[in-house]
Amino acid sequence: MALWSGRFTEGADAFTQRFGASLPVDKALYAQDIAGSKAHARMLAAQGVIAQEDADAIAAGLDGIKADIEAGRFAFDVNDEDIHMAVERALIERVGDAGARLHTGRSRNDQVATDTRLFAKQRCSDLMRANLALRRALMMQAEAHFDVILPGCTHLQHAQPVLLSHHLLAYTWMLARDFERLVAARRAADASPLGAAALAGTTYPLDRQMTAADLGFSRVIPNSLDAVSDRDFLLDLSYACSVSCMHLSRLCEEIVLWSSSEFGFIELSDSFSTGSSIMPQKKNPDFAELIRGKTGRVVGDLVALLVTCKALPLAYNKDLQEDKEGAIDAARTLEDCLVCTAGMVETMRVVPEAMRAQAKKGYLAATDVADYLAKKGLPFRRAHEVVGHLVLVCEQRGCGLGDLSLADFKAECELFEADITGALDLESIVAARTTEGGTGHAAVRVQLAQAKEVFAAD
Ligand code: ARG
Repeated sequence: MALWSGRFTEGADAFTQRFGASLPVDKALYAQDIAGSKAHARMLAAQGVIAQEDADAIAAGLDGIKADIEAGRFAFDVNDEDIHMAVERALIERVGDAGARLHTGRSRNDQVATDTRLFAKQRCSDLMRANLALRRALMMQAEAHFDVILPGCTHLQHAQPVLLSHHLLAYTWMLARDFERLVAARRAADASPLGAAALAGTTYPLDRQMTAADLGFSRVIPNSLDAVSDRDFLLDLSYACSVSCMHLSRLCEEIVLWSSSEFGFIELSDSFSTGSSIMPQKKNPDFAELIRGKTGRVVGDLVALLVTCKALPLAYNKDLQEDKEGAIDAARTLEDCLVCTAGMVETMRVVPEAMRAQAKKGYLAATDVADYLAKKGLPFRRAHEVVGHLVLVCEQRGCGLGDLSLADFKAECELFEADITGALDLESIVAARTTEGGTGHAAVRVQLAQAKEVFAAD
């Protein structure tokens, strides 16, 4: 018998019971549901709506139900439709009429919005913790390999030499922004809908401020219609997850490339690699690929929720029951991806010689040779032309800029002197990039300190 059986003459249909149920998904919210109900009951008693003994019986009954669920003793029944009804039915079974008074002045519409907001806040905090752990791993590797030089790329073509620490720190800044997005998502969730009831508020003297404070919400949602139908906070969480996953997919793409035999810049630890069932020599970066792949699903979760919310009239509509599955999935997936990436980064072996060998290829000094001429007074466009031609000479001879003699340089431009070798040395090229935020050793040291400062404040 459904909790609303009074109005109905026919029993429920097994198919629509199952089709309409959200219990398999929202049972993940049991702790939030129980916390919300306890706060509501306490407030009802404080306002004289129910007796204190009833509130006490409700609280004790709910604690028992929570213990049962956590011990795996609670029999979930899809006929209860959702976690709210499952808990309420069990409560009435346990404590009788007191339990039947719990839903006074409340609707599942404000109840589910409350539970989901509590859940979203909790997940934001969990994700922030995982975000920090990955940033710690990246900074640890940046410090451990501070001076290692590798080719920086644009268009995936060798461009200019950069420090590995600089490259790794780029990801910590992406993650620092992801952290900010999680803070914003948590702030969006941090408002109480409880007391909005079905859509219009109630005739009972509810104290919304009291339940909000009790549940740790920093404010009350000012409009009851908005309170029961707003899911922006879940969109914010899903968006934060999507962007962060996208960042991880970029890092993982580099991990895949770097661990290939063509690059050989890193070797992943065995525990973050897999073998092949047929090719005995294989060591595959499966987990980096998997994270790259999971990003698609997380972005899908965001899009699904956006489309679900589109064109919904006020106030609650059953469409909104579709809100939780994707958001729960997005948060869990991102959390796993953050944990996995942190493990991969922490345990990877960096191969500085391979990075350096590649940095010697591809005329990475070309810009600096042009700058050398420009600093001697040649307009930069002309210098660019001269060095372009020098590269062509190298191409034809099959050598690098460092293999040319001073006479070769002078043949292209009289301004070249013996000190040109300084412009060809990788260390000097990197060190010369003193711009704030640039790859020069000194600038990166400042940047690392900044990254640590932001990390410590987060
Ligand atoms: N299971 C529902 C959900 O997740 C709870 C709210 C149901 N409210 C209603 N009026 N049918 O959205």
